[in-house]
Amino acid sequence: MNAKVVISKDLNKSTKATLLSVQFAVKTEEVRDSLSKIVKGLDGFFLLEDKNADRVDVLVLEIGNSPESEFQTISSLLQENVVETLFLTSARMTPDILLPALRAGAKEFFQQPINKDEVIEAFQKVLLKARQSDQSDASTTRLGKIFSVLGAKGGVGTTTFAVNLATSIQAQDKDKLVALVDMNILLGEVPLFLDLEAETDWEEIGKNFSRLDEAYLQSAMARHSSGVYVLPAPSKLEKETHLPAGFLFQLLRSMRRFFDYIVVDSGMIIDESYAKIFAESEAIYLVSILSLPCLINVRKLQESISATGVGKEKIRVIANRFEKRAQISPSEATKIIGTDIGMTIPNNYSVAMSAINNGKTILDISGNSDVARAYKKLAASLVDRAIERPGGVFRWFR
Ligand SMILES: Nc1ncnc2c1ncn2[C@@H]1O[C@H](COP(=O)(O)OP(=O)(O)O)[C@@H](O)[C@H]1O
Ligand SMILES: [Mg+2]
Repeated sequence: MNAKVVISKDLNKSTKATLLSVQFAVKTEEVRDSLSKIVKGLDGFFLLEDKNADRVDVLVLEIGNSPESEFQTISSLLQENVVETLFLTSARMTPDILLPALRAGAKEFFQQPINKDEVIEAFQKVLLKARQSDQSDASTTRLGKIFSVLGAKGGVGTTTFAVNLATSIQAQDKDKLVALVDMNILLGEVPLFLDLEAETDWEEIGKNFSRLDEAYLQSAMARHSSGVYVLPAPSKLEKETHLPAGFLFQLLRSMRRFFDYIVVDSGMIIDESYAKIFAESEAIYLVSILSLPCLINVRKLQESISATGVGKEKIRVIANRFEKRAQISPSEATKIIGTDIGMTIPNNYSVAMSAINNGKTILDISGNSDVARAYKKLAASLVDRAIERPGGVFRWFR
C-alpha cells in the first residue's frame, strides 16, 4: 500500500497534556462537595460545567431510589459514547445495586461517606489508561482537516474551487493524503472535472460502512494523477438503499483518521447531519461572485450556518471570477454581507474553461496563470497553518 502513516506534530504534543473532563450527577450535597474537592486537587482532570456537553470523560453518578431505570440510562450513556468512564456511588451498598451496576458498565463503586484514597486511585487509573491510548493514537492516527465548500448559487464555481483546492493542497505536499468528496447527489461533476472513471460512490461505501478501514476506503476511491483520492456522489437513485441516519457525517468523521485533508464539494446538502459536518470542518468556504443576488445569498447562508452554532470565523467568503473593474468592489460587498471577503480568485475564463473541458486541474493547464497562483497561495497557507494547530484531546472543546 502506498499509504504512509503521518505523525502530525500536534498530536505528539497532546500526549503530554492529557486533560479529562469530569461531571457529577450526584444529588447528595456532601458527597458532591467531597468529590469536587478531590477532583480539583488532581492533575489531568477538570470539572466540566456545561451540562449539555456532547461527551464527558468521567461521570460520577449517584444511584438513588429507582436503580432499575438508572441502570438503563447508564447502559445507553456508555453505549452511545457520551460517557467514557463511569463511576457510581450510593448510600446503600447492597448486592441488588452493586451487581447490576457493574454489569451495566460502571468501573468503580464509591462507598459513602466518600473515601478520598479510593477515589484518587480510581481517577489515577483512568488517567494512566488515557495517556497510554493517547500515545498509541499519536503514532497510528491522523486527524485530518475537513474543508467544506459551498456555493452561494449554482454556477459560481463551487466545483472548480473544490477540485482545485484539493489538487493544489496535494501539490504542496505529495506525502499528504488528500481526499475530495462530492456531495452533489445525482449531479456530481467532480469525476468529470478530473477525467476519472470512478466505480464506487459514497452510497456504495455506505452499504459496507461496518468495514470502513483505510485499505478498503483507498481501494474503493478513484485516484487522480495529482495524488488526490476522489469519492463521487451516487449518480442514480437506488430506492432500496437506506443509509444510516447521519451517515455522511460519520463517513467524513471516519475519513479524518485516514486522510490529512478532506475537501468536500457540499453542493445541495442532503444529509440531516450537515450542521455537524460544518462543526467538524476546519473551514467552510462560501464561493460567490460579486453580484447582488449572490451576496444576499451569502449573507443568508452565513446566518443559517452560524445559527447551527458554527463560529463565524470558520466561514470564509470567496469572491470567485473577480475583476478589478467590477461594479461591486470587495469593500462594497463587505457592507452587504457584513463580513470581509476572505479571498478573491481572478476571473480567467479561458484557463478555467480549458481545465474543465480537458478534465485537468488549473495548475496543470497553466501553473503560472493568475488563477493558478491564487489557488497555490491559498493551499500553501492551509498546509502551513495546519501544522501549527493544537489538536488531540482539545479538539472536543474547540
Ligand atoms: N476563476 C474563474 N474564472 C473564470 N471562470 C471560472 C472560474 N472559476 C470557475 N469558472 C467557470 O464557472 C463555471 C461554473 O463552474 P462550476 O465549478 O461548475 O460551478 P458550480 O459548481 O458552482 O456550478 C465553469 O464554466 C467554470 O469554468
Ligand atoms: Mg458544481
